Formats: sequence, structure tokens, C-alpha cells
Amino acid sequence: MGNDILKGKRGIIFGALNEQSIAWKVAERAHEEGATFVLTNAPIAMRMGEINKLAESTGSKVIPADATSVEDIDKLIVESMEILGGKIDFILHSIGMSINVRKGRHYTDENYDFTMKGLDVSALSFHKVLQSAMKHDAMNEWGSVLALTYIAAQRVFPDYNDMADNKSYLESIARSFGYHYGVAKNVRVNTISQSPTMTTAGSGVKGFNEFINYSEAMSPLGNASALACADYCISMFSDLTKYVTMQNLFHDGGFSNTGVTQEVISKFSD
Ligand SMILES: NC(=O)c1ccc[n+]([C@@H]2O[C@H](COP(=O)([O-])OP(=O)(O)OC[C@H]3O[C@@H](n4cnc5c(N)ncnc54)[C@H](O)[C@@H]3O)[C@@H](O)[C@H]2O)c1
Repeated sequence: MGNDILKGKRGIIFGALNEQSIAWKVAERAHEEGATFVLTNAPIAMRMGEINKLAESTGSKVIPADATSVEDIDKLIVESMEILGGKIDFILHSIGMSINVRKGRHYTDENYDFTMKGLDVSALSFHKVLQSAMKHDAMNEWGSVLALTYIAAQRVFPDYNDMADNKSYLESIARSFGYHYGVAKNVRVNTISQSPTMTTAGSGVKGFNEFINYSEAMSPLGNASALACADYCISMFSDLTKYVTMQNLFHDGGFSNTGVTQEVISKFSD
């Protein structure tokens, strides 16, 4: 049940692949809260067809766009304003992919073509979306743009591989663009650093099952679910968080500030 906290707001949501996707939950919650939005994903992801189910249940249109293509992004931004009948209030960038991870290339043995592609998809695409929105003057004042990230940007998680570097770049874009967009139009730009979550992208990381259990034991509140992440995104799209910008916001049950928990220590007792 919603409380209409996004009533009248228009948005663009990237990255809903299937029901597990964090973006899928955000779309469902945004719909419940009274927002209207366009759904988008890479043309190749459309083949699975699942996004059409979400479009139907939320009364949304789908516009395919490869987030690495400036042309596709420009078209998406312009068409979204036409479809939604005005400027945009919120954008969710929920996109991540590393070919090195997919192909099992070790961090010390990267294929740099793979690295560049992953960087483009996972990080530079965020700049492309922001730049296109600014050029087309597509955002309403106090609009809110979010990207999803992971704590491997700050600390080493060996199997997260080059995605750690991609996430550092992504978080830096949020700070830098957040400054310029704030000054120009009062638009807010933030990243949310989410707990490990069982999704298609998440489970691609080696040893993910063990890792999710470790993270659960290391978080005083336990791992945050995709739905809880969606709730946080909704609050960040709402007018209740107007002065939050250029931040990397941890949504991780306390993991990021925990040195060790009793539960983990206990595993080392004789
Ligand atoms: N699952 C986790 O453990 C976790 C934790 C922290 C942050 N995140 C981040 O959350 C975001 C969403 O991932 P998810 O876990 O919901 O997985 P997901 O696999 O459901 O979503 C990833 C999305 O990226 C899209 N994508 C890939 N290449 C694209 C391209 N060229 N153009 C447009 N879209 C493209 C995919 O189609 C997919 O919809 C990612 O940024 C991910 O890194 C995930």
C-alpha cells in the first residue's frame, strides 16, 4: 500500500531485467506511490520479454536503450518527456556488468577490451544519462538521480574484480555531476551502496552464496533486501530528502561500519 509520496512525479527507471532486479522492485514501489515512469533496458534484455509484464502492471511504456549509446540515451530522454507529458523528477540507474567477471578473468589478468566495455556499461553510462538530461533540460528543479553501487568501491572484495573500479568511478561521477547539476538546476545526484542481493548481476560474482551469508553475519541488521532498497530509493526520489546530494549512501544493515560481529567471532573460538 502506498502513501502517494511520489504523486505527480515522473521518472525513468533503467535496469529491470526480471522480478529479482532491484529496479523491478523500485518500479513496483514507485507505481504504488503514485509516480508515472518509463522503463528502459538494453535491447538485448528485451528479448526475455519479462519487462513487458512489469510495464503492464505499472501502466508504463518501455523504451529500449543501450546505456552506452549517447544516441539511444538522447532519444530515451526526449521521448520520455513526450510520453510522460513534462520534465522528469527522478531517474534510477540500476545497471552493472563486467565481462572480466563473466569470463572468469582474474583481476591481475584483465582483458582490457572487456575492462573498457564494463566501465562504459557500469559507470560512464551514468555520466551519459546525466549529460543528456542536462543538455535537454529534462529534469525538474529538485529532481533526484540515483545509481546503485557496492562497498567494493571503498574496500577490497577480491572476487568483485574490476567492478570495484567501475563502482569507484560511478560514485565519483555522482559527486562531480552532483555539484554541477546542483548549482545549475538544484538537481540531486547520489549513489546507494546496497547489501549483496540475489539477482542476475549479483549472482554472477564468484562465491556469491558464501559471500551473502558472510555479509548477513557481519551486518547488525542483516542484509538489506531488494525491496528494502526500493523503499530507500523511493525516499530519495521524494521531496522529504531535498537537501541530500553528492553522497554515497550505505544501505547495508550496518555492514560498512562494523569491524566484526559476535556471530563471526564465535566461528573462530576453539
Ligand atoms: N545484486 C547485488 O548484490 C548488488 C549489490 C550492490 C549494488 N548492486 C547494483 O545494483 C544494480 C542493479 O543490479 P541488480 O542486482 O538488480 O541486477 P540485474 O542483473 O537485475 O540488473 C542489471 C541490469 O543492467 C542492465 N544492463 C546491462 N548492460 C546494459 C546496457 N548496455 N544498457 C542498459 N542496461 C544494461 C541489465 O539488462 C540488467 O537489467 C547494479 O548497478 C548492481 O551493480 C547490486
